[in-house]
Amino acid sequence: MQRIQLQPWSSASAEELPAVKRFHIWTIGCQMNEAESAKAAALLRQAGYLPAAHEWEADLVIVNTCVVRQQAEDKALGYIGALARLKRRRPEVRIAVTGCLVTGQEERLAERFPWVDLWYGPSDFARLTRLIPELSEVDIDLVELPHYYPEGQADPEVTAFVPVIYGCNFVCSYCIVPYRRGRERSRPVEHVVAEVTRLAEQGVREVTLLGQTVNAYGHDLPGQPDLADLLAHVHEVPGIERIRFLTSHPKYFSDKLIRAIADLPKVCEHVNLPVQAGDDEVLRRMRRNYSVQEYRERIARIREWIPDVTLSTDIIVGFPGESEEQFLNTYRLLEEIRFDKVHVAMYSPRPGTLSARWVDDVPREEKRRRHRAIEELQERIARERNQRYLGRTVEVLVDGVARGRWRGRTRGNTLVFFEAAGEWRGRLVPVRITEVSPWYLLGEPAVVGAPEPAGVAH
Ligand code: SAH
Ligand code: SF4
Ligand code: F3S
Repeated sequence: MQRIQLQPWSSASAEELPAVKRFHIWTIGCQMNEAESAKAAALLRQAGYLPAAHEWEADLVIVNTCVVRQQAEDKALGYIGALARLKRRRPEVRIAVTGCLVTGQEERLAERFPWVDLWYGPSDFARLTRLIPELSEVDIDLVELPHYYPEGQADPEVTAFVPVIYGCNFVCSYCIVPYRRGRERSRPVEHVVAEVTRLAEQGVREVTLLGQTVNAYGHDLPGQPDLADLLAHVHEVPGIERIRFLTSHPKYFSDKLIRAIADLPKVCEHVNLPVQAGDDEVLRRMRRNYSVQEYRERIARIREWIPDVTLSTDIIVGFPGESEEQFLNTYRLLEEIRFDKVHVAMYSPRPGTLSARWVDDVPREEKRRRHRAIEELQERIARERNQRYLGRTVEVLVDGVARGRWRGRTRGNTLVFFEAAGEWRGRLVPVRITEVSPWYLLGEPAVVGAPEPAGVAH
């Protein structure tokens, strides 16, 4: 490669060079927030900004917030609070706050945090133009955007999140999401397919279609295509090797959808189906719209039609009025179904929701005990379930490096690490599993020699 020498007699002074502006994005919350932060980053790159590793090096700081539980809200508020110092030191820094904290709360927040320059709700990218005039030159439609390159990474991502339906029409009694994300709005099939096509052209191998209730997809579109139809369309995109989707509601997990997962080779054998509780009375008060028996039947059908499927779920412990017996019903359901992964959260009352009007009567210590009990149970189950991979060769999509080892996931979404020389990023590698833990698998590539550098093969 030719070296370019800087000429000491060059007449260009620093002032004549175009100033590079830098942005920093702080994100907390669900995959939808991650997707929206990635989109903001892509927009800003298009407008000529570059990422900054730290907020103190940035000209623009975007804070993407979550309020699903008090803990997430507190973290976001703490971070926005701490930015006051940055603003005092460098008043020219622009600060924008987005995400679920903002919706309907702008006046209250602006009073409390006067150093914030712009408040904008989830997905409302057009408002960013007020702060970044360069953005008015950019087509906000993601289809026109280059794919996001994370900070410090030379290659684009191997996996990407693609929102397909925004908002949620359920009103689970504990949940603030519908109040902050609004009613369901599906993106047309052609928009999703166009975006996935562009991502594939830029090297993305796996897409995860996103929605708070992703399997409600399409009921608001002409012709009412459903998620199974959308999966079939995305399946046609060349270059995409794997398709996932998050998060499903048990009420809409149709036979047709199960058939689509079973029949479409690129759709991974992994289902995330939050049950929240294993007790009918608690489910009723949660306004979940299904019984434990109906949930069981969906799981049985999924396991019948998709052998070797991996299953994950979400649980809330310490919901108002949850008795020891009701909690044990949840515990026993987890023992019975044996999920591969369980996300467990302690109930946190959210102002404005129905359940926030009820007494939060499970003491904090008791919530902790139930939380721990489920984590311990699940650790044992996951350890046992992962045993089945020992000695088996699984297909791993390598998405990066972690602590000196290559990192990827199986089709079932289980983390795998392996050590090997060469460039494996973006590759589908058969890996022979030599060691298992409840949280990940270790192995070695079941191929001879190191691969060609990425980019040569495709
Ligand atoms: N749409 C998804 C979940 C969205 S919120 C669904 O229907 O399951 C993500 C998870 O946060 C939920 O699954 C739930 O387990 C948890 N959660 C939501 N509100 C909560 C609250 N008030 N307290 C504790 N956990 C909550
Ligand atoms: Fe919240 Fe229920 Fe909607 Fe999930 S389905 S986002 S838990 S209201
Ligand atoms: Fe949080 Fe909003 Fe997602 S509250 S979980 S960022 S939808």
